[in-house]
Amino acid sequence: MMKSSIGNLKSSIDNVPEHVAIIMDGNGRWAKQHGLPRLKGHEEGTQSVRAVLRAARQAGVKYLTIYAFSTENWIRPKDEVEGLMKLLARFADRYGDELLENKVRLLVMGQFERLPSSVQKKLSKLMEKSAKDYEYTLIVALSYGSRTEIADAAKAIAREAAAGELDPESVDEETIAKHLYLPDVPDPDLMIRTSGELRLSNFLLWQLSYAELYVTDTFWPDFREKEFFQALDAFDQRGRRYGGIVTQKGR
Ligand code: IPE
Ligand code: IPE
Ligand code: MG
Repeated sequence: MMKSSIGNLKSSIDNVPEHVAIIMDGNGRWAKQHGLPRLKGHEEGTQSVRAVLRAARQAGVKYLTIYAFSTENWIRPKDEVEGLMKLLARFADRYGDELLENKVRLLVMGQFERLPSSVQKKLSKLMEKSAKDYEYTLIVALSYGSRTEIADAAKAIAREAAAGELDPESVDEETIAKHLYLPDVPDPDLMIRTSGELRLSNFLLWQLSYAELYVTDTFWPDFREKEFFQALDAFDQRGRRYGGIVTQKGR
């Protein structure tokens, strides 16, 4: 049976994930497929961000994390890196109001200080404005690498221990989680990767420990509302066991 159409989605999905994380991949391949320069793929990808954010709100997903630029992506050709940074600035300019109108708070995770200062300024302003009155949270992973994040957490914990503020014997999972970039954000329930690659590419290694994984061959610029709802449907069918033997669904 076809479970859901976009219109009655909310009524047909029992378990809506609270937090969805997405590796937005395949912009370059989409561009190549259309005989366009890679940057056109990134540009088209920003429309998927808008569409998926809209769909996520409609479904009641509270947190959406999107992997927009990794610590490894800095090794790409200068033109592409610059183009991506410009696109980010343009996204903030064009769609900042849309975020505010829809009560979406913006958070950024990653090495913020490595971004061009003009981009930092625009994003900071939007983060500040959107923090006041919000229902949904959009987290953009920018110059983000999970190993760096975990190493930074280890450094902070070591410092506190050296300063006598923390007993090394007390360090547990919660201590580490509290020292990650966004300690107040719940772990993702569902991780989507577009364009078929079966790897994490240094994305949220700690936080994804028990996330359900969903990979689609669709390139990111072609991933819109319909594809997002399909991923939510797939999530709804999963039985999460967390190491035990039964699920809420009894399988
Ligand atoms: C994802 O698309 C966007 C970024 C990593 C910035 P890609 O640019 O990786 O596209 P492909 O993987 O080359 O198709
Ligand atoms: C992952 O995509 C990073 C982002 C989506 C920002 P990549 O295209 O950089 O990943 P790899 O190189 O295929 O692992
Ligand atoms: Mg890629």
